[in-house]
Amino acid sequence: MCGIIGYTGSQRSVPILIDGLRTLEYRGYDSAGIAVRQGDGISIVKAKGRLDRLASLLDSRADLTGGCGIGHTRWATHGEPSDRNSHPHATERLALVHNGIIENYAELEEMLRLQGYTFDSETDTERAAKLVDLYYRETSDPVKAIFKAAALIRGSYAFGVIYADIPNKIYAMRRDSPLIVAQSKDGGLIASDIPAILRHTHSYYRLQEGVVAELNGECVKFYDSNLHSIDQPAEQVDWDVEQAQKGGYPHFMLKEIFEEPDSLRKTIAPRIVDGLPHFGVEQLDGDFFARFEGIHIIACGTAMHAGIIGKSIIEKLARVPVNVEIASEFRYRDPILRKNDLVILISQSGETADTLAALRHAKAQGIYTLAIVNVIGSSVAREADSVIYTWAGPEIAVASTKAYSVQLSILYLFALRLALLEGTMTEDEVRAVCARMLEEIPAAVEKAIAMSDRVRDIARAYMNAEHLFYIGRNVDYDLCVEGSLKLKEISYIHSEAYASGELKHGTISLITDGVPVIALTTISHVCEKTISGIREVISRGARVLSICSESLADKYQIPYSDQLIVPEVDELLSPFPTVTLLQLFAYHVSALKGYDVDKPRNLAKSVTVE
Ligand code: AGP
Repeated sequence: MCGIIGYTGSQRSVPILIDGLRTLEYRGYDSAGIAVRQGDGISIVKAKGRLDRLASLLDSRADLTGGCGIGHTRWATHGEPSDRNSHPHATERLALVHNGIIENYAELEEMLRLQGYTFDSETDTERAAKLVDLYYRETSDPVKAIFKAAALIRGSYAFGVIYADIPNKIYAMRRDSPLIVAQSKDGGLIASDIPAILRHTHSYYRLQEGVVAELNGECVKFYDSNLHSIDQPAEQVDWDVEQAQKGGYPHFMLKEIFEEPDSLRKTIAPRIVDGLPHFGVEQLDGDFFARFEGIHIIACGTAMHAGIIGKSIIEKLARVPVNVEIASEFRYRDPILRKNDLVILISQSGETADTLAALRHAKAQGIYTLAIVNVIGSSVAREADSVIYTWAGPEIAVASTKAYSVQLSILYLFALRLALLEGTMTEDEVRAVCARMLEEIPAAVEKAIAMSDRVRDIARAYMNAEHLFYIGRNVDYDLCVEGSLKLKEISYIHSEAYASGELKHGTISLITDGVPVIALTTISHVCEKTISGIREVISRGARVLSICSESLADKYQIPYSDQLIVPEVDELLSPFPTVTLLQLFAYHVSALKGYDVDKPRNLAKSVTVE
């Protein structure tokens, strides 16, 4: 995700662009820039780093008085954060900002080089800018140039464009990525999202796909691909800026849970090519990983909990032993690392000090390191030997949700790739699982999200608990560990995850009348044993919330006080909708208690100290 803003009108554009970008920083913040129509050309100021850095650079640019400009705050997908990869990207004829992922940018680059273009950045956006330039040169028509360029582009985009020889006009077009346009009393605006326009107007147009918008400060015109002028209905919004940054959700955490299906599609789809796992990383796609004897997954918190599921899946499918370690313990245990081992570091932020230290320790031992990271160009990503990015977009809430889900999807694809190399799965078997991942995971998570109100109603009965247990076996136990952390960190209720077979070896002494127990049963071969565990706690007075798959609920009499049925999905993929229910449960308990869900006490989004 990135943030786009544009303004044209009677006011000086720079402060309006900066103000708009500040409201969009939640969409990305690794670099930022603006382009302003100035005199008979375009002036550009852009830099790596947070928006404050750009703002300080602009403090000394009182010369930028132009009333027409575009701005961008970046969440890197192609090319790590740097000055030259920052947007806007420009030619002498135009400047362009972009939000989205252009899949055929390499193909476009090849064609453009044949037309004499050269490139300064690694970004797909620069390729798009020069493609529009090519057609503007050919047609001298600002609208037609954008249509012709868009016709060659595969992927998602929201573009804002200004031309050096067209004063006071902004052009905009989108496909898949969001873009709104608005006309206020001060002038015309384009923006990736509503927060950026609220200081100017509460009325906007949600730009239709296949339409180019032209803003001249007085009015907005819309053109179809035949260059015919068309009308668009205006919409109204009554949010304030903060509400709008959350897209109308009460908290970023809920918004990010609701984004999981889209994040999963964006992370999985590009990594299944011809029906098989494909990472687009040379080593990962060859037989390079066949030689590893053992795998160590090192991470912290929720990322480590994703690793626990990764262990279960990799060992189940590829039969390669996996050791999961807490990063802060790893290097102080003098770990046994063999030269043909692989160390996988998982991190949403890519800046967690404990994980970075573990990475450096492994590298110092000459062990190959693979990072699974959400933030492009972060320290863990840069220092690992290979990196697989999870394209979840920025995760703002301290409690990690969509990042965990996409980390799981990468670990599943990695396990399938390894199973092919190890010969423990046939190509057809791997294809079948990949197909189910694409079809079933986002759909099942969407169904789990649709249960949010029901989860909230059940959460009411548990919100005043002092202590709470999560029990399960096998992968269900692995999920309990994450469910327990989610509840603790945002609702401040003490909870513990317990292997349900282990409870009777001591801890069951804590189960007394009314103690809440959340029991997960989605794994068939251990279901009956888990039911025994549930019966044991119920006989001691526990109140049991059973979170179970429909097939097992039908087949067995799973006892419960409250029940949530996990949306039907292939059992191998059951962690995806199940964890969404656990995240929603923790979210609603915290929200019902009136806590600051997005910024829980004592916590930080990225723990950059050891
Ligand atoms: C997640 O809900 C927690 N806020 C925390 O455990 C987090 O997962 C951990 O600090 C690791 O962060 P990272 O993924 O950015 O490395």
